[in-house]
Amino acid sequence: MRMIVNNLEETQKIAADLANLVQAGDTILLDGELGAGKTTFTQGFARALGIKRPLRSPTFTLVREYQTTNFPLYHLDVYRLGEEGGGDELGLEDYFNADSVSFVEWSQYIEAQLPFDALKVSLERVADDTTGLQRMITISARGERSTALLKQLQVTTNGN
Ligand SMILES: Nc1ncnc2c1ncn2[C@@H]1O[C@H](COP(=O)(O)OP(=O)(O)OP(=O)(O)O)[C@@H](O)[C@H]1O
Ligand SMILES: [Mg+2]
Repeated sequence: MRMIVNNLEETQKIAADLANLVQAGDTILLDGELGAGKTTFTQGFARALGIKRPLRSPTFTLVREYQTTNFPLYHLDVYRLGEEGGGDELGLEDYFNADSVSFVEWSQYIEAQLPFDALKVSLERVADDTTGLQRMITISARGERSTALLKQLQVTTNGN
């Protein structure tokens, strides 16, 4: 699934659509360079779940936990493990469990800890965009549950 959005509100709308479909146990991987919009997407998701606390990027702590009515939400940002390494000794795989939903920025740095079944959201700047606000969002799935989730998301977003 691929679309062009024109501003951050449109990015957060897609995130909110996803928030309405997600279940405990789901893992969302966020891909894209610095400033692409990974944290912005996660903010839109968190707000749609009623999280009022501002969601900041957890760069120095690696993980922040938020409570929702149905499950804990873990927001991981493992950017600094790209330079420091050592991601395999931290027990981060504990965050990927059946009771919680997790978002991972820079997931390529903890590839070995990730569950196979995951939804991947890639954000990219658009080459000829003069506004600086456009992004191409590509969403792909691996595994049974994430494939079903992606199909539901396609139905929701095409219907809007
Ligand atoms: N369409 C858009 N979608 C998302 N963010 C946008 C968009 N247009 C502009 N922006 C801006 O781009 C910036 C994205 O920053 P954000 O922190 O979300 O990126 P990030 O991918 O998490 O970066 P980092 O790798 O540093 O964590 C924000 O300032 C946001 O307002
Ligand atoms: Mg970020």
